[in-house]
Amino acid sequence: MKESTKLGFGSLCAKEIKPSITAAPHILPIYATSSFAFETLDQGINIFTGKEKGHVYGRYGNPTMDAVAEKIARMESGDLETPAAALLCSSGMAAIHTLVLSLMKPGDKILTQANLYGGTTELFQKIFAPLQIEPVFCRLKDLEAVEDQLKSDPSIKLIYFETPANPTLECVDMAQLAMLANKYGAKTLADNTFMTPYFQRPFNYGIDFIIHSTTKFLNGHGNCIAGVMLGRDVEFMQTKVWTTMKLSGTNANPFDSWLVYNGMKTLHVRMDRHELNATALAEHLAGHPLVNRVNYLSLTNHPDHLLAKRQMSGFGAMLSFELKGGLEAGKNFMNAIRIGTLAPTLGDVDTLILHPATMSHLNIPREIRLANGITDGLIRVSVGIEDLQDLISDFDRALEA
Ligand SMILES: Cc1ncc(COP(=O)(O)O)c(C=O)c1O
Repeated sequence: MKESTKLGFGSLCAKEIKPSITAAPHILPIYATSSFAFETLDQGINIFTGKEKGHVYGRYGNPTMDAVAEKIARMESGDLETPAAALLCSSGMAAIHTLVLSLMKPGDKILTQANLYGGTTELFQKIFAPLQIEPVFCRLKDLEAVEDQLKSDPSIKLIYFETPANPTLECVDMAQLAMLANKYGAKTLADNTFMTPYFQRPFNYGIDFIIHSTTKFLNGHGNCIAGVMLGRDVEFMQTKVWTTMKLSGTNANPFDSWLVYNGMKTLHVRMDRHELNATALAEHLAGHPLVNRVNYLSLTNHPDHLLAKRQMSGFGAMLSFELKGGLEAGKNFMNAIRIGTLAPTLGDVDTLILHPATMSHLNIPREIRLANGITDGLIRVSVGIEDLQDLISDFDRALEA
């Protein structure tokens, strides 16, 4: 219908009006649209058949989502000669699920560690194992054990890891893992949520794929759920992984993408402040008479201090500490703390506290928990960017309680 034709009221209600854009927006807009219109049928055919670049339908991609993915790809591939590719998903779990599904087929196995984020372990055991894609658990720090596994089982096609891992901050040697994986024809996938590309870039060590829960530090403000998948093999990301995402519907949405985009603008400033506070708090707690042990990677008594120094450019916001009084002391502390919020997440600007024994690791048998250093009195802290003095005095007050 020609614009000049006089429309009935109902048609006017339903009609899409083309906005008159007289100036390009300075800030990325939220493209809240499920589909994209074509100027002509030929253009539609060209975009559909991939001859011309363009957006089609929100599940396939959207300018807001793509801008966020591109920014993260640039951050993670800052030191590479050719940029990696990234796709934004509806959550960190969706990113892990979509990428692993794209990489594996029935009969393949995933070599991984016991101290993964609990949701990832469950995904491997409850969703992938019944599809004949089984996890094999191994101490990935023990490179001899890793090589034995790879040598004895050629069906291992992926090494999946977190470094540092939750909540004891155990690290794995990425360069060595990548070297072993190459030798035995497996791929490597790192969950880089804890460190972000500001402090750690797994691609620099030869890692093939990365995921993030962008829900955490990349967003930083605790107001959205999203995730990202990244790969150095751009062709594979743009074909196999993109197809898996669009057909599974695990794509992000424009509003949450935009919230991640906003958060990332201050990532470097936040991460510096997180680290400054975490270092000071860790040192303070390490000298406290009611604290048995502090796990923070800047402390020279952490078993992975030197490895962390080698492969990370900062120590991040995450620490954990063990109280002398066990479970009771842990509960008392959690109930007394005021500056930190008891919440099952991490990476926000405010301090977040979690008691692994009764929260994140509740379903893990006690002996396995203890063998991984997760004792009853252990408390995990995602140190925020508050004034340091307020943090220290409130921790002292809650410890006395
Ligand atoms: C290290 C890590 N990876 C992945 C996830 C899953 O991310 P999401 O909650 O965004 O699905 C989490 C969630 O806590 C996490 O801590």
